[in-house]
Amino acid sequence: MHSFDFVPVKLRTLPLDVYLECKIYSGKPEESDGTDAGFSLLCENQTVTQRLLDRLKRAIFPDTRIYIDRQYVIGALFSKGHYLGFSEADVTAIRNHENPWEKKKRPAPIPVKPAPKPKDSPKPGKKIELEIVGAKIFQDKLRVEKFKKTIEEYNITKDIAENMINTAAETGKVDKKQGEEITRNIQKQVNSTETALVLRAINQIRSADEYLHTHCMNVAYLNGLIGKWLEFDEIRQNELVETGLFHDLGKTQIAPEIMQKVEPLEASEFDEMKKHPVLALEMLMKSGMRNKAVLEGVIQHHERVNGTGYPKGLAANDICEYARITAISDTYDAMVTRRVHAESHSPFRILHEFEQGSYSELDFRYVNVFISCMVEELKGKEIIMNDGREAIVLYVNPSRLLYPIVEIDGTIIKTDDEFYCARMKNILEDD
Ligand SMILES: [Fe+2]
Repeated sequence: MHSFDFVPVKLRTLPLDVYLECKIYSGKPEESDGTDAGFSLLCENQTVTQRLLDRLKRAIFPDTRIYIDRQYVIGALFSKGHYLGFSEADVTAIRNHENPWEKKKRPAPIPVKPAPKPKDSPKPGKKIELEIVGAKIFQDKLRVEKFKKTIEEYNITKDIAENMINTAAETGKVDKKQGEEITRNIQKQVNSTETALVLRAINQIRSADEYLHTHCMNVAYLNGLIGKWLEFDEIRQNELVETGLFHDLGKTQIAPEIMQKVEPLEASEFDEMKKHPVLALEMLMKSGMRNKAVLEGVIQHHERVNGTGYPKGLAANDICEYARITAISDTYDAMVTRRVHAESHSPFRILHEFEQGSYSELDFRYVNVFISCMVEELKGKEIIMNDGREAIVLYVNPSRLLYPIVEIDGTIIKTDDEFYCARMKNILEDD
């Protein structure tokens, strides 16, 4: 028999792998606002109610555990437990001081002590050793060759995208065949190439004059990755990539002095800029595009779930899925563009800032998928610290994105605001 004060709980209908740790207490009458069905959730120093719990249920991943007070479990679960994914058998087990998930414990935390030296044949389950072996692969010549091939394919697609955007600027129409070719290339590359390499290609430094076609293409790539992570079928992934590719097409019809203005736009100029989703729709229609899902995604890509977007100020589920996903890719790529020229463009800082600034405007559920998959891609990768030393990313706590745990010369170190990641190591640096 196992006794415990807090019971780990899996929320029902949860997708993969984000880890949120919080505690649930029975709601005290004086704290209840009448909408929380008798309990409240204490999460990162914020007491939230059933409404947030419902949002969490839609957004959190299946391995996520929340912790619920055992007394509360016993007292209230039969009536409220279904909200949290408890079955009757679970409740009985908890009542008997058993932990129904005891056999599915979370992986043990990484000990903060010197890591064992990497061995040629790591024993199964030794995560740290596997990560180090992973880092060795990272340095392998084969990987360099793969990266060069990824960049080559990316650049070929970029040339076609540049051509497509230039033609669109001149004619007000899009060449459907070029659009299809780009979409096909991106989809193929996203599904057949290691995601980390695709992300590296997207994050290359770009000049101001290649911004529009590179941005459209990168958003298409990111949409493709999100479609893959969400396990979209081929047709939906294709539509999502197309939505990304065409989302800013309307900007080709905006006056260059507005497009290229470095200073903040005047209100009237911003009003002009805000016409670009409608202009894109018109151009696509003129070009014979009839896919309603893609057209809807394009015209709604600046709508925001809190209703602050444009052109219609739609909110939440009134915004189509492709537009909600494209808004994430669009925001992320714009952030990478701003950061890529900065002295430090740590991917952890970008993800942290993205997370901080995005929750009220972007779809919480997709943001979580995006961040957790991005974090997964960073594990085992080589980074350069602010003192110039190389390190390997071992672990990233999703609630502490800025400061990963890294390994340097066999020592595992928690990073912080004095010792932090400055940038990813360039794959070609050792070549
Ligand atoms: Fe846009």
